[in-house]
Amino acid sequence: MGSCRVTVVGAGYVGLTSATCLARLGHRVVCVDNDTAKVASLCEGRVPFYEPDLDKLLREGLASERLRVTTALPEAVRDADLVLLCVPTPMGDDGGADLGAVRTVLAKMRTSLPSGCVVVTKSTVPVGTSHRIRELLRRPDVSVASNPEFLREGTAVRDFFSPDRIVIGVDDPHARDRLSELYEAIPAPRVWTDPVSAELTKYAANAMLALRVSYANVLAELCEKVGADIRDVIEAMGYDERIGPAFLRPGPGWGGSCLPKDAHELVRAAASVGVDAGMVREALAINDRQARRVVARTRRLATGSADGSLRGVRVGLLGLAFKAGTDDLRDSPALTVARLLGEDGADLTAYDPGVRAERADVVPAVVVDDPYRVAKGASVLVVLTEWPEFQHLDWGRLADLMVRPVVLDTRNHLPADDVRAAGLEWHGLGIG
Ligand code: UGA
Repeated sequence: MGSCRVTVVGAGYVGLTSATCLARLGHRVVCVDNDTAKVASLCEGRVPFYEPDLDKLLREGLASERLRVTTALPEAVRDADLVLLCVPTPMGDDGGADLGAVRTVLAKMRTSLPSGCVVVTKSTVPVGTSHRIRELLRRPDVSVASNPEFLREGTAVRDFFSPDRIVIGVDDPHARDRLSELYEAIPAPRVWTDPVSAELTKYAANAMLALRVSYANVLAELCEKVGADIRDVIEAMGYDERIGPAFLRPGPGWGGSCLPKDAHELVRAAASVGVDAGMVREALAINDRQARRVVARTRRLATGSADGSLRGVRVGLLGLAFKAGTDDLRDSPALTVARLLGEDGADLTAYDPGVRAERADVVPAVVVDDPYRVAKGASVLVVLTEWPEFQHLDWGRLADLMVRPVVLDTRNHLPADDVRAAGLEWHGLGIG
């Protein structure tokens, strides 16, 4: 069992998952956030966003007293062996990551850090941030390390305990010892490297995932034109061990708080040193086109024509989150599709099992809490998120409620034969 004193700064997906999981491993953890309402909710054992198993781990950590949650930043780092920075680095106006939160945190805690402590960046930070942190800290007695996190929303806890690898960038043996101890109990390959390589790895991995999905989306378009079936093409490609089957499913585009931001940052960072990351730029352009492609297909299916007007046409959206298993709407392609359809005058109703009607502020559609209400009077249903429950809907009942019983399944997720047998026209992506 671990025995490090760890302070985690930031209680978002990465911070809260790290804090609760490290407490579970036996470390003594303080999690700090400047959002008082969030901290109050966490102290009562309630996680203010949806992530499987996290609330259970939080309550367990609080009960065992191995985990404490607070807003008191300088105080929380006074005894720390390690300080994990898990604050957001959103996309700034220039397309690069905004380091404002990191700077604020460093300014608040720099004089309170104990000698010998290790400051570790865990949220995705621009390449070279470790150097910047060292300059801002002006504390030669404090080590700086980079330990990018690769967890996915929806499976964050599982990914933390069973990662594919742990990447740690350090440049002194003391930091290396501390981080070895921190992750002692986790069985995964370690990649020990320098901080800059660790920082770059995170961007390199996310951009690679983005490239794959954009490639799949281009292949899907090609399949439609030549009369091929992307499902078979992907399956056949995936058996090649050099390629593998993951991240080749076509869809409405890749979204979320990470892939788009990181792809933009990689392009910007490369350009700043004279390297043209053209293929990543192209993946971004393909991603923009993909939402428009979904809108064009929706228009054709709802109106029967490529230039038919969507004004007043009712379109039902199934799914709003950027992927299933999360209530996260940040950079969701479903919202882009909804916005574009709304701009064309469509009358939009949406249902997502993870998104409540109160989120209507960010959703350009009427959000309802029942998938059958979405179908009522609709000329087409568009599946935008691959929620398992959509596979078990009563398609006969949905068909009866619609003006035109047509489904555009942008995730190729529904049991197409059952949907057709229930009397609906089923259309997928990449099926010519
Ligand atoms: C991503 C990475 O997968 C994590 O490894 C990383 O730690 C995380 O970003 C991060 O940087 O924090 P996440 O944002 O949770 O995780 O989402 P993904 O599961 O990667 O999905 C990204 C998008 O790609 C979603 O919109 C998803 O629907 C789409 N996607 C994924 C496809 O359209 N097709 C696929 O085959 C796979």
